[in-house]
Amino acid sequence: MNDESRFRDELITLATEAGEYLAYLREIGVESLEGSLRSDAARRAEQVVKAATPDAAHSSPALERNARAAAAAAENVSSTADSSGMPHRTEAAQSSQQIEMVKRSSKQSNAPEPPPPPQETLFGEITPQDEASLPRSNETLEDIRADITPQCMRCPLCCQGRTQVVNSEGNPQARLMFVGEAPGADEDAQGRPFIGRAGQLLNKMIEAMGMKREDVFIGNVNRCRPPQNRTPSPAEAKTCKPFLLREIAIVQPEVIVVLGNTAMKNLLDTKEGITKLRGQFQDYNGIKVMPTFHPAYLLRDPSKKREAWEDLKTTRDYLQGKLQQ
Ligand code: URA
Repeated sequence: MNDESRFRDELITLATEAGEYLAYLREIGVESLEGSLRSDAARRAEQVVKAATPDAAHSSPALERNARAAAAAAENVSSTADSSGMPHRTEAAQSSQQIEMVKRSSKQSNAPEPPPPPQETLFGEITPQDEASLPRSNETLEDIRADITPQCMRCPLCCQGRTQVVNSEGNPQARLMFVGEAPGADEDAQGRPFIGRAGQLLNKMIEAMGMKREDVFIGNVNRCRPPQNRTPSPAEAKTCKPFLLREIAIVQPEVIVVLGNTAMKNLLDTKEGITKLRGQFQDYNGIKVMPTFHPAYLLRDPSKKREAWEDLKTTRDYLQGKLQQ
C-alpha cells in the first residue's frame, strides 16, 4: 500500500469513527466526554495531515483538503445538539453526508477502487449446519406464547405481585437479539419488554448501531417481574429460560447481545462475571453471543457507556461482515 492510499484510508477511518462515536455519545447522553473526543479527533486529523506532508498531502492538495474536511465533519457532529443534548437529525445527517463526501472525493483523488468482496452463493445456504449449531425449530413464537399462557404459575414469580407475563417481542427473522434479566415496573404494567428508562436507552443503543427496534428481537430470561426488582433466583431462571431458548431456536439470530450479568450467566451457563467477558464473542450453539453491560447499569454509571459502545460496534461490524471471527 502506498502513502497516498494509507493516508486516504486513515482519513476515512478517522472521519467515520469520530462521526459515529460523537453521534453515539450524543444519543446516549455522554456530553462530558465530547470535548476531549472532539479535540482528540481534530488532533488526530492534524497528525494525519502532518504525517502525510510533504510526501502525500503536498503531492495531492485534494488529500490535504480531505483531511481538513474529515476533521470538520467530526467537529460538525459534535456541534449539532439541541439544548437537551440530543442531536438534530437533519444536522447529524448533514454530517454523515459530509463524511460520505470525504469518502467519495478521497476515492476519486486516489488509486483504483479495491475489488468487490467475493459473491455470496447464488443459491442461498448450501453449507450444511455443523453439529454444534442449533437445530431448526418446527414450532412458532405463537406456539410458545400459547404454551406459557397468561396465567403461568410455573415459578414463585407468578404470585409475588406480577401484573402480567411479559413476552419477548420483535422481528421473528432478526439477525440480532437482545436478552435482559426480567421485566421491571413499566414492563410489568404494559406487558412489553424494555419499555421503561432502561428500554429507552436500549432503543438509542440500537439506533446508534444503525438499526431500528423493529429490526431486532428482544426478550428476557424471566418473564415475570420479581418483587422490588430483585434478581430472579437460579430456580426461577431455570424454570423460565427454556422458553427463551425455544425462541432462539426459532429466530436463529446471528448474534445475541446479553445485557448484564444475570442474562449472560443464564444463557452461557458460566460463573464468570460480565466485567471479564464483556466485549468478547462467546458461543451459544453456534450463535455468537456478545456480553455487555445492562442499560439500567449504564444509567447508574454513565462512564461505562463507552465500553458498551465498543461492544455494540464489534457486534455491528460482525453483522456487517467486517470482522472475521
Ligand atoms: N430490565 C430487563 O432486564 N428487562 C426488561 O424488560 C426491562 C428492564
